[in-house]
Amino acid sequence: MKKKVVLITGASSGIGKQTALDLLAAGYTVYGGARRVNAMSEITAAGGHALSLDVTVDASMQAAVTHVLEIEGRIDVLVNNAGYGLYGAVEDISMEVARKQVDTNIFGLARMTQLVLPGMREQGSGRIINISSIGGTVHTPMGAWYHGTKFFVEGFTSTMRLEVEDRGIYMVLVAPGIIDTGFGDVLGEEITRNSGNGPYADLVAKMINAAQNPSPSLKGSHPKVISDAIRRGIEDAKPRTIYRAGKFGYLLPLMRRILPHRAFDWMMKTAIR
Ligand SMILES: NC(=O)c1ccc[n+]([C@@H]2O[C@H](COP(=O)([O-])OP(=O)(O)OC[C@H]3O[C@@H](n4cnc5c(N)ncnc54)[C@H](OP(=O)(O)O)[C@@H]3O)[C@@H](O)[C@H]2O)c1
Repeated sequence: MKKKVVLITGASSGIGKQTALDLLAAGYTVYGGARRVNAMSEITAAGGHALSLDVTVDASMQAAVTHVLEIEGRIDVLVNNAGYGLYGAVEDISMEVARKQVDTNIFGLARMTQLVLPGMREQGSGRIINISSIGGTVHTPMGAWYHGTKFFVEGFTSTMRLEVEDRGIYMVLVAPGIIDTGFGDVLGEEITRNSGNGPYADLVAKMINAAQNPSPSLKGSHPKVISDAIRRGIEDAKPRTIYRAGKFGYLLPLMRRILPHRAFDWMMKTAIR
């Protein structure tokens, strides 16, 4: 049987890289895309393919999808994983900086989805795995733009399920909890650059302190737990609509559901004191 062809965005680090390596080991044909092509050498060494891909640039996304279709003739699975956490106070963040977050986490995911759909529809099968976050259900201080994008991902994916499932295409959400990847470094750089010296600097200092001196119970899970969840989304005969995994991946969304808004706010504020 022909190997399934998987395209993963954001494969140069963290969850995307781990998923690419695990799927290669499981026998899939894997294409990883990211801006840092050199950081995907482990993927090529393991028999995968590395593509230059910037999900904020339309021509780059078109070129990546066209390349895979020309070589393989099909894409069976798209893993929309590329993303980062724009953290900082809304008052401090310029619309230009916010637009980059939206371009990456929302328009990048939506355009990649749009580009693979015609092929999946014609072949009558396909899976699109969208990486959301616990941040698609719960909210943390200074993360309004990031959480907004992940709330979007959840609404977009659920709505699309009603549109494409009858054509053989499954839309699957994977919502990681806290995972030990490059995500925290990028978040730390963003929050410091945006709000480290502004009127919310006191809150930023508390958040950085909480992030840099985490109690052992706050250490993130290994990205393998998310790679395993993604694989279940690909291989389960009828995939779940959402797979949750990783530190706090179940607990926080559950608390968000049962606690009143202000009780949840209090808990989040207390966590960074
Ligand atoms: N780590 C966590 O605790 C956590 C929790 C919940 C959800 N998530 C989500 O998981 C996903 C992966 O994050 P991670 O934790 O693995 O972080 P990471 O280690 O920082 O990896 C992020 C990946 O996204 C890629 N990326 C960023 N901007 C891009 C762009 N414009 N075009 C193409 N690729 C781009 C990066 O590649 P280049 O820089 O080379 O382009 C990198 O490969 C994200 O969507 C994140 O929101 C993470």
